[in-house]
Amino acid sequence: MNDVVRKVRNLTTDEKLHLVIGDKLGTTADGSAVVGTTEKYVPGAAGNTFAIPRLGITSVVMADGPAGVRIDSTRKGTNRTFYCTHFPIATLLASTWNSALVHDVGHAIGDEAKEYGIDVLLAPAINIQRNPLCGRNFEYYSEDPLLAGKLGAAYINGVQEMDVGTSLKHFAVNNQETNRQNVDVRISQRALREIYLKGFEIAVKESRPWTIMSSYNRINGVYASESHDLLTTLLRREWDFDGMVMTDWYGGSDAVAQLKAGNDLLMPGRKSQYDQLQKAIAHGDLSRKALDINVGRILRLMSRTHRFQGDQYTNQVDLKAHAAIARQSAVEGMVLLKNEEKTLPMQGIQRLALFGCTSYRWIAGGIGSGNVNSAYTVSLVEGMKNAGIAVDTVLQKRYDSYIQDYYDHAAPPQGPYARFLSVALPKEMYIDKREIARLARQQDMAVITLGRLSGEFIDRSIRDFQLDSAERRLIEDVCETFHAQRKKVVVLLNIGGVIETASWKAKPDAILCTWQGGQEGGNSVVDLLTGKTTPSGKLAVTFPNNYEDELSAANFPDDAPQITFNRDKAEQISSERKNIDYVNYDEDIYVGYRYFDSFGKAVSFPFGYGLSYTTFESRGASVMQKGDVVTVSVMIQNTGLYAGKETLQLYVAAPKGQLNKPKKELKAFAKTSLLQPGQSERVTLSFDIHDLSSFDEAASAWRTEAGIYRLFIGNSSNDILSSLSLRVRSYQKKVSDILAANGQLNNLK
Ligand code: BGC
Repeated sequence: MNDVVRKVRNLTTDEKLHLVIGDKLGTTADGSAVVGTTEKYVPGAAGNTFAIPRLGITSVVMADGPAGVRIDSTRKGTNRTFYCTHFPIATLLASTWNSALVHDVGHAIGDEAKEYGIDVLLAPAINIQRNPLCGRNFEYYSEDPLLAGKLGAAYINGVQEMDVGTSLKHFAVNNQETNRQNVDVRISQRALREIYLKGFEIAVKESRPWTIMSSYNRINGVYASESHDLLTTLLRREWDFDGMVMTDWYGGSDAVAQLKAGNDLLMPGRKSQYDQLQKAIAHGDLSRKALDINVGRILRLMSRTHRFQGDQYTNQVDLKAHAAIARQSAVEGMVLLKNEEKTLPMQGIQRLALFGCTSYRWIAGGIGSGNVNSAYTVSLVEGMKNAGIAVDTVLQKRYDSYIQDYYDHAAPPQGPYARFLSVALPKEMYIDKREIARLARQQDMAVITLGRLSGEFIDRSIRDFQLDSAERRLIEDVCETFHAQRKKVVVLLNIGGVIETASWKAKPDAILCTWQGGQEGGNSVVDLLTGKTTPSGKLAVTFPNNYEDELSAANFPDDAPQITFNRDKAEQISSERKNIDYVNYDEDIYVGYRYFDSFGKAVSFPFGYGLSYTTFESRGASVMQKGDVVTVSVMIQNTGLYAGKETLQLYVAAPKGQLNKPKKELKAFAKTSLLQPGQSERVTLSFDIHDLSSFDEAASAWRTEAGIYRLFIGNSSNDILSSLSLRVRSYQKKVSDILAANGQLNNLK
């Protein structure tokens, strides 16, 4: 008999009920301020499971990610600090298109988790970036499931090599923050299978996460955490997931339904759940056998942890080495969007005028549980100084005092989530044209940083997507005045989610989307501006011309009220409010480039796009199939003047058939190593032939239609370097008919 089975046998029913509910039971009936109260083990951790010392059952301690380990940096009774490294946000990591790099970031985060006594890291989060306004897009990877799934798997493999578990989240279809705990996502089986579940399927199969976190929302009427279809039929039976499933914090409403569905652990734990479960066991509504299955999975997870194995943790991490990883990974995910007349890398530039409040208060990442308590954030002005580049100090002083004054008087965030929120960013300071003219005369170049801060609990508004009048004026005045002196202007986007670029992008000479690169952000940006490193990031999400161009805009909340939902108070919830109580995914599978590309809609910057300082040429593309694996290979040569890396993207277009398919879909990607000028490399891109199938709802099957498929090798979704063709045989694989929508969906088919 194995140890876990023996332990389950020796437990009392009361102990089992405690085990399936996180160890916050009874202490937080009002549901507030739970994260950060796991003082006993690791202050600032998000939660832990119940320990039963008489049987040697230890707690499993969990802390948030994904941009690093989220714990408190200070502790009562000691002057020591417990900082963690703030790594780049997931959207930036996705823009590296570099699985090995994401793996290494995961590895470093896993190391910090291990040394701080964390057993399970609550990351990565691979929900699809369905709409630019989702407040949590910064924690997510991409609008494309293949990219999100592959990079999510790389991150998980990196963390778990340290024998620290991960929790792949939020499973599934958690694409908005507005009323996230209750919203009903109404969606077709096809969009679920091909877009919203696909990334999870890839990550589960390629990295075997120790745990999965079910999401708050409902899917076609059923809470994700209560969905047997999702958590058992699909996840465990179809995908062979053998780990443990936990709820998101306070997710779902019916503890009994959750356990029966295969959601083993209810986090962070509430007294009402204990009462519900006890009653259900007494009345036979929940069988002891079912409970034992949940308990067994929790114990199996526990038995894998360092804490259970008695390994000591040091509370010492190599912050210096990890800062170097943060700096280098951020460099690789920043995307050069525009570079007229070789504005970048800066040549012969000694002195700069830095505009925009964000240049002086750089944003490392987003807010909410995805924030990290790091020791510092390198701002752009600090990054410049570190590289020996002078900035105009009169302008710097003006900004410093403007920003200080703003924060001295700004109202702190209010409401139940206040401790997770942050004061709004200051509006841009007005600088009159005479002052700009002085700067244009005295300085060699202007840099303007635009910043955005978003996070958990609140979606962004259309206003946040757009530039406000102060930002527009700043760009206009600086460009006009500097250009009059024949000096260049570079705009930096220190953002966590997509913003509007189409209306103003013609004005500056160069635009670099720096995303939010973690604590070393300012240094990373300067590495690129000075040409120490050549940009190689590519967009993992489309930048549309207008917000309204997004197909999902018709069905996404804008300026919805902030909603707090507390089940213990049995708050009454309406079910009528469009985009709040329910949301129709009418765009179906046409998310991101799948829409823009298929329907010929112009965009500002397409998916997969990103410039370099050097140039690449490709030749000799070929395709071969061995068994089920298709491999495309191509020679890439660096034909420019700078050492650099190139990302190749393989898109596949299906022949016309019965199934309605996007114009083309990403099926593989690969990045070269650092190529010196003149150097060549053979790049291979592989995929499984069955990955060409689409989900046929009528047959409840993955189906490929026979014919000649076109394979496009591009360095962007709209820049195809070469194309090949492949004869494909028909294929069909029946799967369970699950997660169906209740009524008619108004899908775009
Ligand atoms: C978030 C999760 C997080 C959990 C624990 C929830 O509010 O949605 O992503 O892991 O809190 O902090």
